[in-house]
Amino acid sequence: MTHVAIIMDGNGRWAKSLGRAREFGHRRGAESVRKVVEAAPDLGVGTLTLYAFSSDNWTRPAREVSALMALLGKYLREQTSRCAEKGVRINFIGRRDRLAPALAALVEQAERRTAGCRRLLVRIAVDYSARDAIVRAASRAAGDVPLTRESFAARLAEASHSSAGPVPDVDLLIRTGGEQRLSDFLLWECAYAELYFTPRKWPDFEAADLEAAIREFRRRERRFGGVPAAKAV
Ligand code: IPE
Ligand code: IPE
Ligand code: MG
Repeated sequence: MTHVAIIMDGNGRWAKSLGRAREFGHRRGAESVRKVVEAAPDLGVGTLTLYAFSSDNWTRPAREVSALMALLGKYLREQTSRCAEKGVRINFIGRRDRLAPALAALVEQAERRTAGCRRLLVRIAVDYSARDAIVRAASRAAGDVPLTRESFAARLAEASHSSAGPVPDVDLLIRTGGEQRLSDFLLWECAYAELYFTPRKWPDFEAADLEAAIREFRRRERRFGGVPAAKAV
């Protein structure tokens, strides 16, 4: 099953282009999340990892940060039951100790209530920094002998507070909003990810856009450092 990760970017610019406050873009962005989660299973996606809030996003104005946190709470209150009904497991990666206790409780409740779901795993990255996770994992793994890619990935899952085990390698990384960078997202897991950048801003992103990205991904030839089978003679 394909692991698709999305850097959901461009909410602020989308709102600004309409003369609205950035928060308006975040609100509409939450709608895009709902649509993409609904569409993913039928497109062959098994795991969908969504970058919702980076550890560096704490540096934004307090008002925007609270709006984002409030939206996350609203999303969980409204969508957890629906996800449970539709077979969608919700899991979080990132630090939890800096979330407000009420939000952390909603996060845990969503994970618990959807723990048995198997149709799609949605991982939401909140207060997430790939470099911080790697540093924490490396310090915990210091005495591990032998240290392998697999055992390090398990350390990374612990360090990312993932209750659904190691984050698998990303097959397709999508970034909306036109920027072409990783912004500290899944640096280890994206080693061989196919990268797909689209100028479309996240609030405008729909199921058809996900489908187009996956169609393009299926056309790519992944070689993992080798040579294509037909040419290996
Ligand atoms: C993505 O949109 C949402 C978060 C990073 C939380 P932005 O808020 O970064 O929107 P732009 O990039 O400023 O347009
Ligand atoms: C990355 O977007 C984080 C999320 C989408 C949650 P940013 O908007 O924070 O990234 P930069 O600042 O453009 O690199
Ligand atoms: Mg941005």
